[in-house]
Amino acid sequence: MAKVFLAGAGPGDPELLTLKAARLLAGAEVVLHDSLVGSEVLRLIHPDAELIDVGKRCGQASTAQAEICRLLVESALTGKRVVRLKGGDPVIFGRLTEEMEALHQAGIAFEVVPGITAASAAAAALQASLTQRRVARSLHIITGHGAEHGLPVHNWAALAQAGGTLAIYMGSKYLPGLVEKLLSAGVSPELPVVAVEAASLPEQRVLRANLAQMPEAISRSAPSGPVLLLAGAALESI
Ligand SMILES: C[S@@+](CC[C@H](N)C(=O)[O-])C[C@H]1O[C@@H](n2cnc3c(N)ncnc32)[C@H](O)[C@@H]1O
Repeated sequence: MAKVFLAGAGPGDPELLTLKAARLLAGAEVVLHDSLVGSEVLRLIHPDAELIDVGKRCGQASTAQAEICRLLVESALTGKRVVRLKGGDPVIFGRLTEEMEALHQAGIAFEVVPGITAASAAAAALQASLTQRRVARSLHIITGHGAEHGLPVHNWAALAQAGGTLAIYMGSKYLPGLVEKLLSAGVSPELPVVAVEAASLPEQRVLRANLAQMPEAISRSAPSGPVLLLAGAALESI
């Protein structure tokens, strides 16, 4: 049976796909993809391949994770060349564990192919370094959306104390609560925050505000695409 590839599609710009992912897509017979995978990336898939949209977008109808796992295993058992294509890097907020477990339990071999994550694409768009010497010695990749909805539980005090750059995925919906937690933990309301919507895509938008003002700024801008928030002193002059 052919090996399944769990591949990263990058942030949207097809030129940010790895050569390996592009080669796999060109030769795939079945591709199960997320809704965040850009249309230009989907164009690289072999025209005869079967495309299965298993999109999961916050707040919209989506395929349940168990169903995605079932489809993945079912596709692999046909013996066809299967690629599971996930937005960004599959190892970051990609529900990779569930799918690897399903494949493992079914005795199906797989390989993970990394991709460029949204935080890297957003930083590149801003021409910002997320780990500036003497300014930001750490980078914290966090989610702003709990597994059971609502704000996730983080060690807010530890994040505040570390003083590194925060890369906040899925942060728009519960941003007021998240900002409140950071402020209560001692983070300055003046901390620079930049929101990048649809990083790397032609419709990319950038919004700058301080921590206290970002929830209001985001709600006024009413983003329709995915938003990545970067916060920290490294964003000061951006
Ligand atoms: C389920 S997570 C998937 C993250 C993905 N695995 C990655 O490595 O980028 C989805 C979140 O990633 C962020 N995201 C993904 N693509 C993005 C893009 N092109 N621009 C801005 N944020 C993006 C948003 O915060 C979005 O809500």
